[in-house]
Amino acid sequence: MDAPKESGLRNVSSVCSIPEMDDFDLTKLLDKPKLTIKRERSFDERSLSEMSLSRGLDNLELAYSPGGRSGFDTPGSSARNSFEPHPMVAEAWESLRRSLVHFRGQPVGTIAAYDHASEEVLNYDQVFVRDFVPSALAFLMNGEPDIVKNFLLKTLQLQGWEKRIDKFRLGEGAMPASFKVLHDPERKTDTIVADFGESAIGRVAPVDSGFWWIILLRAYTKSTGDLTLAETPECQKGMRLILTLCLSEGFDTFPTLLCADGCSMIDRRMGIYGYPIEIQALFFMALRCSLSMLKHDTEGKEFVERIMKRLHALSFHMRSYFWIDFQQLNDIYRYKTEEYSHTAVNKFNVIPDSIPDWVFDFMPTRGGYFIGNVSPARMDFRWFALGNCVAILSSLATPEQASAIMDLFEARWEELVGEMPIKICYPAIESHEWRIVTGCDPKNTRWSYHNGGSWPVLLWLLTAACIKTGRPQIARRAIELAESRLLKDGWPEYYDGKLGRYIGKQARKYQTWSIAGYLVAKMMLEDPSHSGMISLEDDRQLKPIIKRSYSF
Ligand code: GLC
Repeated sequence: MDAPKESGLRNVSSVCSIPEMDDFDLTKLLDKPKLTIKRERSFDERSLSEMSLSRGLDNLELAYSPGGRSGFDTPGSSARNSFEPHPMVAEAWESLRRSLVHFRGQPVGTIAAYDHASEEVLNYDQVFVRDFVPSALAFLMNGEPDIVKNFLLKTLQLQGWEKRIDKFRLGEGAMPASFKVLHDPERKTDTIVADFGESAIGRVAPVDSGFWWIILLRAYTKSTGDLTLAETPECQKGMRLILTLCLSEGFDTFPTLLCADGCSMIDRRMGIYGYPIEIQALFFMALRCSLSMLKHDTEGKEFVERIMKRLHALSFHMRSYFWIDFQQLNDIYRYKTEEYSHTAVNKFNVIPDSIPDWVFDFMPTRGGYFIGNVSPARMDFRWFALGNCVAILSSLATPEQASAIMDLFEARWEELVGEMPIKICYPAIESHEWRIVTGCDPKNTRWSYHNGGSWPVLLWLLTAACIKTGRPQIARRAIELAESRLLKDGWPEYYDGKLGRYIGKQARKYQTWSIAGYLVAKMMLEDPSHSGMISLEDDRQLKPIIKRSYSF
């Protein structure tokens, strides 16, 4: 489909600087002007405030859209690489645009699903913060940043609301899980209702929303080169409020963030309470993104210091205690228990008998991953897709760990990808364990929904991780699988079964993030420089003492 209007695509490159991508094989395929290579440091390497001294524009202009928006409304792909976009791309754009939500005439987000066939709407007619992320990235990559800016500002306003559950007041910084625009056709007014967890199933506040908001603010800044949004007092305050929530001191002995079940993408009871990998990885990424955007004024400075210390402790903790590979599993298997004092090897007193049988077979000789959770006497060995991919993108995973995660994908392709990319977690829990862990949740039966279901939205995260680790062939293979079914099946929310072969029992159709996730994956693979808006360089230079500057 090369008719521009029909495909909905515009020709845009992202701001991502080429030096940042130099390590990746894929960039060799890129036909980028040499000009960009002149940049010595990427956006991440410099603080916003530093850039604003010189307004940063000269530097950014070198990097973003050198051949940028063509001016012709042609699909980027066909213009640049004489590459025909897959026919699904045009359909996907059309569906994505149909999901747009307007507030007083301005687009502010996309609804979760546009499924007319489904009898019950539940809350799928709302704009979810986490669901909007792939939509936002698709719009940014397509040179349409306004909707993303509107969304960021609208949700920032919502953050300012007073939030109560019964008689209890939530922390000031909490961001909503979702919001809904109510149109009154008679009075011609639009109003917003938001949910901070007080209407959600289980009444849990979304810990991930604030992190996604920060990550998206950086993606917007990086993609547009517009530093002014992140620099506004409102955005600076919004970031600080989110950070206050997660950097506050308490009784913690770990740098990880303690969470309730259901506080993230997996928003029902699934035994992820404690220190779930998804939240820890997003936390790490949001901290690093904040660091690149916080001003070094009196208020900002204090946060920068706290962030640096936390990042240092968090990366050490995650890389040491959440990481598992063949060697590490063997070590845990041989752990002694009841060790006391600083010399203990088995610090969390994990009883080797609690290691589930499946993990011994699942663990390849080559490969590894961050496990689901670590807390006293409890290691959740399940593999979670989002946490592992975000760990790669944020460089929470060392380069060696990142490659090992990709090795695991290859070694356990059937289990983790099967016939539809990709499993939200592996393996499913069943029988007695399912009863205890999920509380007999009929939506989360084995190999369905959050319990080992396959979620097409995760394709964009997998693709970004593949690009970062220089393994685009893995993404290509996954995208091909998705292309064989997604459109035909009406863009389901999730698939069921050990191989992800069946459309999910209660899956919505025309699920927006399945559509947007596919588009983002396609656009990144076609122009890997786009992935710069969502991935961060290795943090080797991250030091506990702040000698601010070049590491971000
Ligand atoms: C389900 C998912 C959640 C998502 C929401 C809207 O509740 O578990 O992650 O945000 O649907 O799509």
